[in-house]
Amino acid sequence: AVGTQEELKRVAAHRAVEMVESGMTLGLGTGSTAAHALDRLGDLLRCGALRGVAGVPTSLKTEAHAGLAGIPMLALGDAPRIHLSIDGADEVDPELNLIKGRGGSLLREKMIEGAGKRFVVIVDESKLVPRLGCTGAVPVEVVPFGCFHTLGLIRKVFDGLPGFSARLRTVATKDTAAKEVPFVTDNGNYIVEMFFDDGIRGDLREISDRLLQITGVVEHGMFLGLATDVVVAKKDGSVIVLD
Ligand code: A5P
Repeated sequence: AVGTQEELKRVAAHRAVEMVESGMTLGLGTGSTAAHALDRLGDLLRCGALRGVAGVPTSLKTEAHAGLAGIPMLALGDAPRIHLSIDGADEVDPELNLIKGRGGSLLREKMIEGAGKRFVVIVDESKLVPRLGCTGAVPVEVVPFGCFHTLGLIRKVFDGLPGFSARLRTVATKDTAAKEVPFVTDNGNYIVEMFFDDGIRGDLREISDRLLQITGVVEHGMFLGLATDVVVAKKDGSVIVLD
């Protein structure tokens, strides 16, 4: 067995980086698993094993990390094509649909990973779920204006569903009378977190459409049909690639 969850994340990340070839433009993911891929890419560029690789970062945090790792970067509109994206996920279902964005970066992730040809997801086996929404929040990015009105409209989509709840994501603050302030994304937006007792049942695409139809909703963290490969590092030391 390979041990800690952190080691499994690194193993999955390194396996995905083996798919990178010189000259590729990459979507660079966000989160603790994707961070291992950034470090590995930096190492391979430094030693010359990879050349001419550029990355499109999915968050400001990733942009800073990739800069330190020495990965050349391009903005989304400046990359003629994205050959391959590598990113973690919060949940992966048996159809390779994902929940992403518990780190708050879902909008840029979906824009970049949806634009590329191939999207390789890197996870340890704890992320595999029978149904999306089983293990925690399903994030929805909303504009700050009227956010509680938008929250009400999101609740209506799941009206009467037992075990459903939704709230604005907040973070603790030191210096105001309020103890909590809204979490703000890289795009200056807020996040609504939806919770489902036993995961999201029903037609995911229909639910996606209904959420995206709400004026004030920018994007949600269900990534349906976007992943092309999922690299899973397992506790027994094996690595499997689902596609
Ligand atoms: C960032 O907003 C997310 O989509 C991450 O990709 C996701 O939360 C996985 O992160 P970890 O690799 O840290 O679990």
